[in-house]
Amino acid sequence: RVTGTRPYSNGPLLPPTYERLYNKYSEVRRVLGAQRLTLAEKILYSHLDNVEESLCSGTNNGRDIRGSANLKLRPDRVNMQDASAQMALLQFMSCNLPQTAIPASIHCDHLIVGERGADDDLSAGIKTNSEVFDFLESAAKKYGIDFWPPGAGIIHQTVLENYALPGLMMLGTDSHSPNAGGLTTITIGVGGADAVEALVGAPWELKAPKILGVKLTGKLNDWVSPKDLILHLAGLLTVRGGTGYIVEYFGPGVDTLSLTGMATACNMGAEIGATTSIFPYTDASSRYLKATRREQASRNAEVFQNFPGAGAAEDAFFKFRADEGAQYDQLIEIDLSKLEPHINGPFTPDLATPLSQFKKTVQEQQWPEKLSAGLIGSCTNSSYEDMTRVESIVREAEKAGLKPKADFYITPGSEQIRATLERDGTLETFTDAGGIVLSNACGPCIGQWKRIDGVEKGTPNAILTSYNRNFRGRNDGNPDTMNFLASPEIVTAMAYAGSTTFNPMTDALTTPSGAEFRFPAPRGLEGPQTPFEQGKQSLSVLSQPPNPSVSVAISPSSERLALLEPFDPFPESDLTNLRVLVKVTGKCTTDTISAAGPWLKYKGHLPNISANTLNTAVNAETGEVNAAYDFADGSKTTIPELAARYKARGQPWLVVAEHNYGEGSAREHAALQPRYLGARVIVCKSFARIHETNLKKQGVVPLTFAEQADYDKIGAGDVVETVGLYDMLRNGGKGEVTLRVTKKEGGEVVEVPVRHQVSEDQARFILAGSALNLLARGG
Ligand code: F3S
Repeated sequence: RVTGTRPYSNGPLLPPTYERLYNKYSEVRRVLGAQRLTLAEKILYSHLDNVEESLCSGTNNGRDIRGSANLKLRPDRVNMQDASAQMALLQFMSCNLPQTAIPASIHCDHLIVGERGADDDLSAGIKTNSEVFDFLESAAKKYGIDFWPPGAGIIHQTVLENYALPGLMMLGTDSHSPNAGGLTTITIGVGGADAVEALVGAPWELKAPKILGVKLTGKLNDWVSPKDLILHLAGLLTVRGGTGYIVEYFGPGVDTLSLTGMATACNMGAEIGATTSIFPYTDASSRYLKATRREQASRNAEVFQNFPGAGAAEDAFFKFRADEGAQYDQLIEIDLSKLEPHINGPFTPDLATPLSQFKKTVQEQQWPEKLSAGLIGSCTNSSYEDMTRVESIVREAEKAGLKPKADFYITPGSEQIRATLERDGTLETFTDAGGIVLSNACGPCIGQWKRIDGVEKGTPNAILTSYNRNFRGRNDGNPDTMNFLASPEIVTAMAYAGSTTFNPMTDALTTPSGAEFRFPAPRGLEGPQTPFEQGKQSLSVLSQPPNPSVSVAISPSSERLALLEPFDPFPESDLTNLRVLVKVTGKCTTDTISAAGPWLKYKGHLPNISANTLNTAVNAETGEVNAAYDFADGSKTTIPELAARYKARGQPWLVVAEHNYGEGSAREHAALQPRYLGARVIVCKSFARIHETNLKKQGVVPLTFAEQADYDKIGAGDVVETVGLYDMLRNGGKGEVTLRVTKKEGGEVVEVPVRHQVSEDQARFILAGSALNLLARGG
């Protein structure tokens, strides 16, 4: 039964969840009239703080705002993982508010190390991180935030199962938050500072994204999965191709995909730099809501799907689909029936190789032919469909007497999926085959993998994962581990072969009896035949109203948590006497700027974690990793050590870098740490979107070279002065900026014109020293 209000007499009932969306969407329609909108625009614009102001600023009058207007948005909720939640909460605490302004949740998933298996790893993880988990739990109790304890699951899986709802808009303090786009929820990965803005009730600002349409036709073949769709797309678009875009899928092919498959494609939109990704609401979405015991939500969504807008004009229907004839800024068409499985990597998710070409590529590139481990699951690929497809492969291999030749690890995405797979016998199939089921946590996906197979750091080896990201060292901290991405079924079949040159679609294995064995195509179930199991009670959410009497204690002697000191405001003048700390070359991801793995334990302690700053960056002038030279005496040291030295001397500094600086995750530590150590500017050829925003929030000015060749004109130790920066900030982001560079050797002065994308609000953050400084004083 649908309950709700009736917005106009004798009209249908409007489900309560959709009242606000309906009202805002009616306003959007009033302003934009019959303009055809994409699905992403419908949802995004229906979350505007002030529709008229955002859509009609300047001369655009509601048109052509993509890529230009600054949208001030009111998200419905914020989801935080334990590593980033620490800093977000420390920042929220400094605003002295009694509770969060919108619903929020904390998910303890990043801090558990994968080693021997779920039970051992979970209890060891809880012991090692108890101080942090206690901090998060007490903060959750104090401020009324949902708390998912360690073992409850990985943020994106839990959010998909519990919080994602068609038409909602959420922020997540993790770059793969767009996973929820599979369930037609606009979800954007942000840093803690952005999360805090939403948590204190301030509107959250976003440059109106362009929309990249991906039209799907056809149907996936047997061996091909939605993972291959996004692996293929990453190859087409590269890690920068989605920057500034929302990827919106549409077309008849969409209706052939499972809900969790759509979530996988959205999850990995982060790998092409997209702001987020979204799919329309389909029958599969409805089935998923019901399977996750949200029948009422599915009924509400269906009512709203065809709910007429004010005036009941055809175009005013929300539909959870794009309007017929909506325009995309870029359009890609993919015939699903022509896709083949892909393997992407190593070291970058956009190096896509179709499976049929992979053997040849491995041999040509002289990549290791021996596969040392196959790892499946994680937030990307641990759905019921994924796991039952894998199960079918494992069963066939077992029947033939085969065992995986490579180590085989399985990470369930949540307690719900784990318990359901246990109930249905799938996990037993894996463990009988020799697979190790890890805890419902990130583990090896984020460098929390203690390998017990004797592969030491520095040993070249190859692994295959069904995860989403494969930067160097990402999984086991070993820069010589070549990490390839594929679907769980391909990972598993290749783990049986123990070889990177095996093609399960065409090649045969030899059974112990000497017979030839070929894998039949995987077969799985989209979802369980009875609703998902909820699993262990102790791993369910702690949800309660705020309790101001709870104290959030942080020991002054803690090595894991430290209260934040506000950053100093921008000087009342241009910046002078900045020194180039280091000029880096090649990829400089957020992993490079603030490594994960063992450093995750210091996420809540800014001084301690800062000792990893840029510690895997490559020095452009010497080719060395993590090497920097003190301009004062030429002495060689590490990059973080030199930054700390400069901080102690009161010497402000900047970094010079190449393209897509800050690519990868929403990790705000990659902005906080340089700021803490004294960085005022980062100048590079281009930035990754989230990181650029994060820098501004922390008071660091991101600048890009107007002429890319000017990268060659600045070197480590040069003295830099900004010209026009202070005026630009005082003018709300308007004005030209130049860097005046005095060369370390010879004293020659070079003028380097630079560009910036500083909005009015961001200019205020930077002048105040950080966004938090401004929020804390009610700005
Ligand atoms: Fe965790 Fe890896 Fe997903 S770190 S949130 S499992 S991308």
